[in-house]
Amino acid sequence: MAKAKSVFFCKECGAESPKWMGQCPACKAWDSMVEEPVAPKAKGMKLPAAGTAKKAVPEKLSEIKSHEDTRIITGVEELDRVLGGGIVDSSLVLVGGDPGIGKSTLLLQVCRILAAMKIDVLYISGEESVRQIKMRADRLGKFDGDPEILSENNLDNIEELIVEKRPRVVVIDSIQTMFREDIAASPGSVSQVRETTGSLLRLAKGYGVTIFIVGHVTKEGVVAGPRVLEHMVDTVLYFEGDNSSDYRVLRAVKNRFGSTNEVGVFEMRQDGLREVKNPSEYMLAGTPVGEPGSVITATIEGTRPIMLEIQALCCQTSLNIPRRTSVGIDYNRVNLLMAVLEKKMGLKLSFCDAYVNVAGGMKVNEPALDLAIVMAILSSYTNKPLGEKTICFGEVGLTGEIRGVSQAEQRVAEAKQLGFEHIILPKVNMKTVKDCGLKLTGVGHVTELMRLF
Ligand code: TYD
Ligand code: MG
Repeated sequence: MAKAKSVFFCKECGAESPKWMGQCPACKAWDSMVEEPVAPKAKGMKLPAAGTAKKAVPEKLSEIKSHEDTRIITGVEELDRVLGGGIVDSSLVLVGGDPGIGKSTLLLQVCRILAAMKIDVLYISGEESVRQIKMRADRLGKFDGDPEILSENNLDNIEELIVEKRPRVVVIDSIQTMFREDIAASPGSVSQVRETTGSLLRLAKGYGVTIFIVGHVTKEGVVAGPRVLEHMVDTVLYFEGDNSSDYRVLRAVKNRFGSTNEVGVFEMRQDGLREVKNPSEYMLAGTPVGEPGSVITATIEGTRPIMLEIQALCCQTSLNIPRRTSVGIDYNRVNLLMAVLEKKMGLKLSFCDAYVNVAGGMKVNEPALDLAIVMAILSSYTNKPLGEKTICFGEVGLTGEIRGVSQAEQRVAEAKQLGFEHIILPKVNMKTVKDCGLKLTGVGHVTELMRLF
């Protein structure tokens, strides 16, 4: 019997190579090559019946209709905003996230809303039987419309069905369970994921079907399968959150039809996901009052300010190298800020274990949080709480200077709305917010911070 042929694919970029290599020649990633059976020549997509396929012809730019009006507004503001103002027709949207985070629930809820709007939707699951999906749907409550449900893994069959039925929106849950018969590799392999996504892309663009693809995330936090997956689709959304908390964030990391720094905030309930329209209130629920180590700050997520609590705990270490951990913020940033405090204020932080945490399970990465991290560490170190109804924001530089941040007005306005009375902020931001009616304390250097406790 002839030896089965195999090729190697890069897990990162999908590059193909006839032999194994330690480093991918295309994207230079190390140890990313995986062996897969060789695929026979791609068949290409099955041709639809004559007259149904759109044959592409060039059009004059001035004659092309703008796509402004071809969005479906779902009415779920948190979702619409992340998508850039609704679901764009014939787009391909990848929804990635950890297992159990709520991707299937989110998309079934989208199907429910669309069906209620009398839009033809088809939910295809390769992971669950139709009965299991029905059980999930029952948890979500009453359905006003009647979306169609299918349990199928074979993409050739799915293709045929979509071409025949022409639904307006299709959900594929998940891409790692789909396979094309002409590809020998198993579902979830690099070549299957790449080729099945390619087929879905042609379906979306050729037939004007909007397709949501669910993608599982690997340990490293990227959608399993080649990075090309992210290049092929129009929009990449990540659904994140902590399994231990009910708080979920939908984040756009790529969007051809809108901004990428938008987030939508949801809460996982017994009966599905609920929008959180005021995330600040949600994030601050249960904040301790008058406790050392707890500091409130205002961050900007996309276009919205969100108030957060930063918690720090400093205690004497019993180890040679002090233990440092950070949850929700960059570990290296915390180390850097602690080094600044040590050098500029003479604190003995190298004898302290330090734990810094964003309460509520949110992940943030904004320099404007520096001041709050520093204040939380100082507060825990000195065991003195920061005054009540006080927030702070600002960037801290390596020489200990406190630098201005963008959108100070929005941060202050959000704080005012939630009943905060005192704002500690960079001196340079003072003039833009001086008329806010709250007590303002401008700071220019970390050495000025001790007297604020
Ligand atoms: P699911 O959507 O299956 O996650 P994914 O598709 O991302 O793997 O969500 C599963 C979790 O959500 C599960 O732990 C149960 C919980 N859940 C609720 O809390 N309420 C609900 O109404 C539903 C449907 C699920
Ligand atoms: Mg699922």
